[in-house]
Amino acid sequence: MSKDKNSKKEKFAKLIIDNNSYSFPIYSSTEGESVIDITKLHSKTKFFTYDPGFTSTASCESKITYIDGEKGILRYRGYDIEELADKSDFIEVVNLLIYGDLPNKSQLTKYKNLISRHTLLHEQIINFFQGFRRDAHPMAMMVGVMGALSSFYQDTLDIKDAHQRQEATRRIVAKSSTIGAMAYKYSIGQSFVSPKNNLSFSENFLHMCFSNTAEEYKVSPILAKAMDIIFILHADHEQNASTSTVRLAGSSGANPFACIAAGVSSLWGPAHGGANQAALEMLEEIGSSKNIKKYINKAKNKKDNFKLMGFGHRVYKNYDPRAKILKKICKKVLNHVGINNDPILQLAMDLEAIALKDKYFIEKKLYPNVDFYSGIILKAIGFPPEMFTVIFAIARTAGWTAQWTEMIEDPIQKIGRPRQLYTGNLITKYGKKRSRKNTR
Ligand code: CMC
Repeated sequence: MSKDKNSKKEKFAKLIIDNNSYSFPIYSSTEGESVIDITKLHSKTKFFTYDPGFTSTASCESKITYIDGEKGILRYRGYDIEELADKSDFIEVVNLLIYGDLPNKSQLTKYKNLISRHTLLHEQIINFFQGFRRDAHPMAMMVGVMGALSSFYQDTLDIKDAHQRQEATRRIVAKSSTIGAMAYKYSIGQSFVSPKNNLSFSENFLHMCFSNTAEEYKVSPILAKAMDIIFILHADHEQNASTSTVRLAGSSGANPFACIAAGVSSLWGPAHGGANQAALEMLEEIGSSKNIKKYINKAKNKKDNFKLMGFGHRVYKNYDPRAKILKKICKKVLNHVGINNDPILQLAMDLEAIALKDKYFIEKKLYPNVDFYSGIILKAIGFPPEMFTVIFAIARTAGWTAQWTEMIEDPIQKIGRPRQLYTGNLITKYGKKRSRKNTR
């Protein structure tokens, strides 16, 4: 990009409108597609671009995450996701995403210490939970309580202060797991379990969810590792809907807790983070391999709203690398908890095999995504489906805070303000009758 000294403007794109020619700079990325800089399009031509769903729009410059959707590659700060899942841990990945490179041993120890010192919540936050119905979806509690943090941690709301920004990101990452675990405990009618600072992030989350006043949960290293891998795989995914929501909310100068609450809301939808819950529910609805053909036909039928949940992706036109890793650890976790022949896992594998041979899925390049196998693992660990998206949200606080920080520190950052193609009424005198078909 032009503001990055490492890459130079080298090419121009020409646009011709009514015989007038306009030229726009092309910027090369370090890897992946180049972009045409159209920031001056309107001032030069009086036209806007039209791109619903932002299918051809790069909304920002970023150095955090790289995806090659054709090859099925995902990298955080240049490190392959496979290697991070194998060798790193979630808090190291958080540090990598936020600070740009892997910490050394003493930096990591210090950072883990700082995160664990922020896992406690203000005592009064308990009152917020008590205001929710017991049958509330835990994501409803996540959205509400995350936003409410702005009122408790007022010493980290000044987004112009770098120290406050960093402290806010640590609070958000640390407290998200406590909020998620409390939402779970509240929904099953058990008392909240306090965090334990001597445990790792993932062990502590399992402890807060599964220990109770009568019995301490013994955290299994295999399940803790699986949990940690799930957190790592969901930590960031460049400019997806929830991350773009966080950036857009933050572009107005809103405080970090409010921005992350906006991200949690966006993640909740079934086309995004809500797909992990929907995928498991879909597998349970299909019930048996003999029904797969019927559901594949429903997914292909344009008159039917049904979609194969956990399948397809805006960016991946190949196997989602995160799904590949999860498929492998799925068997390990099931064996560990003593489920040797899980009918749901078998059904998922049969469904995947049939879909991947089907012309419709081949032509549209629809492959399993991260949500296809994660639910089976989370269920085996002991979570109900309503908690799956909460777990996604806890992990994604890493990416959201890293992307929010990058945006605030970007010298060309402006308030996000897209325009529109207006197709409504022309000026109408008040009281004049108009045919209803002109309005929606
Ligand atoms: N089942 C059946 N058809 C599908 C599916 C699916 N899961 N996904 C896409 N298609 C079809 C779609 O109908 C469209 O067909 P046509 O070209 O005939 O109109 C074509 O494939 C292209 O799909 P699209 O909806 O235009 O693609 P998109 O980039 O707008 O949407 C998606 C991507 C993930 C929202 C979509 O694939 C989907 O709804 N999948 C199911 C939900 C899901 O698993 N979401 C999790 C995404 S990964 C985790 C995350 O990032 O949150």
